[in-house]
Amino acid sequence: MAETVAGTAASSSTPWWLHAVCYQVYVRSFADSDGDGVGDLPGITSRLPYLRDLGVDALWITPFYVSPQKDAGYDVSDYCDVDPLFGALADADALLERAHELGLRVIVDLVPNHTSSEHPWFVDALAAGPGSPERDRYLFRPGRIGADGVEGPPNNWISRFEGPAWTRVPTDPERPDGPGEWYLHLFDTSQPDLNWHNPDVPAMFDGVLRFWLDRGVDGIRIDVAHGLFKADGLPDQTLAPGESADPGESLITQRPSHTPMWNQPEVHEVYRGWHKLLDSYPGERMAIAEAWVRDPGDIADFVRPDELQQAFNFHWLAAPFSASAFRGVIEQTLAAVPAPTWVLGNHDVVRAVTRYGGGPVGVERWRATFLTMLALPGSAYLYQGAELGLPQVDVPPELRQDPRANVPGRGGRDGCRVPIPWSGAAPPYGFGPGDGQPWLPQPSSWAELSVEAQTGDDSSTLEFVRRALAVRHDLLSELAGVEPELHVSGTEDELVIRRGPLVCHLNTGSEPIAAEHRDRLLAGATVLLCSGSDPKARPGDANTATWLHRP
Ligand code: NOJ
Repeated sequence: MAETVAGTAASSSTPWWLHAVCYQVYVRSFADSDGDGVGDLPGITSRLPYLRDLGVDALWITPFYVSPQKDAGYDVSDYCDVDPLFGALADADALLERAHELGLRVIVDLVPNHTSSEHPWFVDALAAGPGSPERDRYLFRPGRIGADGVEGPPNNWISRFEGPAWTRVPTDPERPDGPGEWYLHLFDTSQPDLNWHNPDVPAMFDGVLRFWLDRGVDGIRIDVAHGLFKADGLPDQTLAPGESADPGESLITQRPSHTPMWNQPEVHEVYRGWHKLLDSYPGERMAIAEAWVRDPGDIADFVRPDELQQAFNFHWLAAPFSASAFRGVIEQTLAAVPAPTWVLGNHDVVRAVTRYGGGPVGVERWRATFLTMLALPGSAYLYQGAELGLPQVDVPPELRQDPRANVPGRGGRDGCRVPIPWSGAAPPYGFGPGDGQPWLPQPSSWAELSVEAQTGDDSSTLEFVRRALAVRHDLLSELAGVEPELHVSGTEDELVIRRGPLVCHLNTGSEPIAAEHRDRLLAGATVLLCSGSDPKARPGDANTATWLHRP
């Protein structure tokens, strides 16, 4: 087994986020306090003890701001207030206070790439017409005349959801009889992209950041962090042979090489400013970038010492269940990123249990991969319901809500957003009070996956996650803030991580490792935890990860 040794910085003052386990709360689907079928802030507050007992350090809450909900809250019309669907500002304050009482940090979402088309700025921009200061806050352009003499979009960019990234406004004030200018939206037509070169835009977001930091949030998740600036002149995108403009989230390494709409250098100046702003607050406030960039090295740019503290590591999420693939991502990440994160799921991608093959095997593989990522230095992000082993749900087309739900080839995201089963034998499984059904239907098979059903069952995924987080917590205390060298070795199907006294062994093959190999692995070591759900699972079994303590 060839071995890689990763140099890691030793430090005695570790900021809370560096090794934190952060639980992603998808607000619509976590807990519903008022029985309208949609999760809300008081629902989250009522379940905070569950998160504390699970053993996570922090929660990240997806957008709960005022929004027409065209893209489940990622279309914001007022950044400094709570949508009545989710509660009121007082509920946000109560949530923060209770979380802090329980020792949990809170990260909130910020959506700076675009507003809702119902944001007052966009309403004003439509009314004000071409060339106005109001329009300059967005990216309005005249159309381009094609070879056929017909006016089309200003360039060839496509939206991440459906069709061209441009929509033509029905009329402009000075052209009441004809179609008007086009505006850019890299996502839904209801999410116009902002013009970050216009000084009003950074000024507004400084204010939004201060608004939530003043209320006590510990961190900010930056939506589409690599998108704020577009290449000068908005040039066409050119694709190399075989490249697709939108290969999909899980094919991150196949993103096109020429992306005039993503990852422009100007964005880093914004994050240098936000770094200073976060630093001006007491406590260790942080920000994490959502940046789907092709190369791990590009992630590193977002986490330079004077920029953001973290960026999601989507390369880990996109890797197949393969020891050698995981090893490659670990090596590339640690070589490039000083404060790494490990992510296996979120509200935009197919749930990992299903990505890894589904059924009992998918669950075993998720457990093994989760245990492996918990062994790595850095911070782990856990998407709600993953701790229950929830699979992707095949939501019937007529019930889907995602704006890209029925776009061929794009894959709707409703299937990973189905509300959490808390208790009981039938939907809504304690998601809300009474029998009212949630905004997306829960499968009838989920009774056995509920929090109630899994609690106290040692073989359950929930109890496994609780044990894993508790053991990790103890290990971090043993390391006492001094990060040992990391050794990563392996073969096609086997990965071994050594981090001080911890040895993590992962077998992604279809056969257990040989008996003598197992004996060598176990010699002088204590088994701390094995990911297998079968009480008879042994270190080195197929689809299994094991933590060993070797002082
Ligand atoms: C990323 C978010 O995670 C996703 O849900 C949303 O649709 C897009 N950004 C647009 O805001």
